[in-house]
Amino acid sequence: MEKNYVVIAAGGLGTRLKNYNKNNHTKVLIDINGISMISLQIKQLISWGLSNFVIITNPEYHNMIKNDVELNFSNINLQFVVQQEPNGIADALSYANDLIPKNSLVTFVLGDNFFGSNPLSDLNLDNFTGAHLFVKEVSNPQEFGVIEVVDNKVINLHEKPQDYISSYAVIGLYIYEYKCFDYINLLEPSERGELEITDLNKIFLNKGDISYSIFESWWIDAGTEERIQTLKNLL
Ligand code: G1P
Repeated sequence: MEKNYVVIAAGGLGTRLKNYNKNNHTKVLIDINGISMISLQIKQLISWGLSNFVIITNPEYHNMIKNDVELNFSNINLQFVVQQEPNGIADALSYANDLIPKNSLVTFVLGDNFFGSNPLSDLNLDNFTGAHLFVKEVSNPQEFGVIEVVDNKVINLHEKPQDYISSYAVIGLYIYEYKCFDYINLLEPSERGELEITDLNKIFLNKGDISYSIFESWWIDAGTEERIQTLKNLL
């Protein structure tokens, strides 16, 4: 297996959380039961056996995020890079390109996504090609990217569809072959001006190079106050 590099999108400012706990900093520095969200994320990934990390920050909070992580972890391979503009999740991933050896496997995780068990444990990553998604049935699919499936095959992907398409939300953990970086260069900004992760996944889909598995344990996208509270209760 090629070396596995984990990229963590940690630059999101958390606009839905700006009034949370007098939040005067960025989302991944919010305290979760005594540890910052970013350090909790790294703890989670280390417990899955992962060890090479590239952390994508934002210009304003880069030093605070780096200091927090470096204080909590030593002896692991940590690299940090600033996403210069908030141009979307796929744009954030592109900043890791120069820091990851060619042909590595790329595990991309959104810094605010937490999981009840290790989703990678049942996946055979030998000779991995394309993209792999994890999905979970939810009651609020309009808040996520979703897969449209026929006969267990993904036929389309939709980002936050207002009309019902499927209840299988795409969770914020993606496995990519290294060529994801070439594909990001092909993306055009969406209507909201961002390079969308769903559009990157659509390129893999159009090449017939995408797979998915259903994640059975709990999953929290800790992007709202309510979901952060749920996460705190689950830990
Ligand atoms: C992002 C992605 C979405 C995905 C979700 C998972 O949305 O755009 O496709 O389902 O993460 O957490 P966000 O939560 O950043 O709005």
